[in-house]
Amino acid sequence: MELLEVPTPEAGPGQVRVRVKAAGIQPFDCEVRRGLTLPGHDPSFPRKIGNDFAGVVDQVGEGSEGFPVGSEVLGWALLASHAEYVVVPIEQIVTKPAGMSWEVAGAFSASAQTAHTAVEQLKVGRGDTFLVHAAAGGVGTVAVQVAVILGATVIGTAGEHNHDYLRSLGAVPVAYGDGLVERVRALAPQGVTAALDGIGGAALDASLELVDDRRRIGTIKDFDRAGELGVLAIGTQRSAERLARLTAWHTEGKLRIEISQAVPLERAADAHRAMDTGHVRGKVAIVVP
Ligand SMILES: NC(=O)c1ccc[n+]([C@@H]2O[C@H](COP(=O)([O-])OP(=O)(O)OC[C@H]3O[C@@H](n4cnc5c(N)ncnc54)[C@H](OP(=O)(O)O)[C@@H]3O)[C@@H](O)[C@H]2O)c1
Repeated sequence: MELLEVPTPEAGPGQVRVRVKAAGIQPFDCEVRRGLTLPGHDPSFPRKIGNDFAGVVDQVGEGSEGFPVGSEVLGWALLASHAEYVVVPIEQIVTKPAGMSWEVAGAFSASAQTAHTAVEQLKVGRGDTFLVHAAAGGVGTVAVQVAVILGATVIGTAGEHNHDYLRSLGAVPVAYGDGLVERVRALAPQGVTAALDGIGGAALDASLELVDDRRRIGTIKDFDRAGELGVLAIGTQRSAERLARLTAWHTEGKLRIEISQAVPLERAADAHRAMDTGHVRGKVAIVVP
């Protein structure tokens, strides 16, 4: 992975160009770095990487209304955002709330939209006891808070070093590893009604033991086993409406994103190294000077 000079993209009809101030990084970006290619994406080099971003509109394509030059926005642009400029359809951006930092705005869309999609598909709400695996990570951090907003009781798995963090998000923390099922049962004698797996393997097995209704178990990781087990394989359904709902909760003080590291674009490799530990709390942001 290296920083290259490439032609600056131009905004076409229905698009804007954004001068990126910050972006997020997800485990998916690391998979692409390791060689994953997607159907429909050109596998030749140079290839860009990165999903979410925040920045300032600096060029408006024909017929693109609502975001004039100078607008501060956040959004998503798959396999494109770790760059100084991205070109996106206006359907993929929303206004950046004034009180949201650039780092949070840049690292907001990807994990938050995944988490919200999952909570929605699992129909989590008042009366539920919801188990979130990898609750301290990017997706888990938002899944916990959205479920709390919607009235659920949330139990989150994390290492001991993240238990105060999970409490601060509104979850009851529990350590993962041997004995997880028994520990969760002790914390939730009323039973667990839904679960979100962001780890796969043993986390999904524990969910199968704890939740009776398999259609209320979702995985964003273990797609290979989802079909045979009859649990939901959840893929992110991104929309500007979903993103605006989530940014409104941030503005209302109900949803916060912890940025555990902010790394300049020229040191993006360090952001990948941090993600590859598998133990990032909240999000790592890439900052574009
Ligand atoms: N299907 C989709 O559309 C979609 C979208 C986004 C993400 N994903 C996938 O979902 C997964 C989670 O994504 P993410 O962005 O939240 O990842 P992430 O931010 O890298 O998750 C890191 C967190 O995982 C926790 N963790 C590590 N090992 C664990 C274990 N055995 N049990 C419980 N927690 C553990 C760590 O907590 P501790 O430090 O406390 O261990 C850390 O806080 C990834 O595999 C990603 O590829 C899928």
